[in-house]
Amino acid sequence: MHSGLVAPKGIWWKPAGRQEKVWITVAFIWCMVLFAMMPFWHFKGGQNPAGIRHRVEPAKYQERVNRFVQEYKVGEDTGMPVVQAPPGSELYLLGRMWAWYPILKLKEGATYTLHLSSLDLNHGFSLFPVNINFQIVPGYDYALKITPNIAGDFRIVCNEFCGIGHHLMVGKVIVDPK
Ligand code: CUA
Repeated sequence: MHSGLVAPKGIWWKPAGRQEKVWITVAFIWCMVLFAMMPFWHFKGGQNPAGIRHRVEPAKYQERVNRFVQEYKVGEDTGMPVVQAPPGSELYLLGRMWAWYPILKLKEGATYTLHLSSLDLNHGFSLFPVNINFQIVPGYDYALKITPNIAGDFRIVCNEFCGIGHHLMVGKVIVDPK
């Protein structure tokens, strides 16, 4: 019999059973393995950004993008410039409400340094259908070393809610086969 005044008889101060100890040990070892994987993947994994980043005034970044477009523009697609820079060059992509500027044309197997920044607020760079995701933050220029290994026509979808036109913020990357 017990009530609010008389506590039930507890068993939690009895020593843990053998099975319980085994599982606690297994869980602890697994936690340590996952913990060790974090620094390991930082150095060994292929999914990390190049670590090249610096502060940049949004207006300065826009100037840089405009120069890049002027230098390497090869065409237009519904008013959006299509830009093809030679392999090995620095590419500049801009996210803003609500577009990715410009359209990039790349060559399969070539390596580039892709600079990303935003003019206004946070946008999410998500390359569709390949699973590449990156946060685009105003005031910072992030550079990623990229080597497209599949030819095709890709879309950049914004995956960070950025206002009324968020769902319209779709950009384009074209990778020509070698
Ligand atoms: Cu940009 Cu959502």
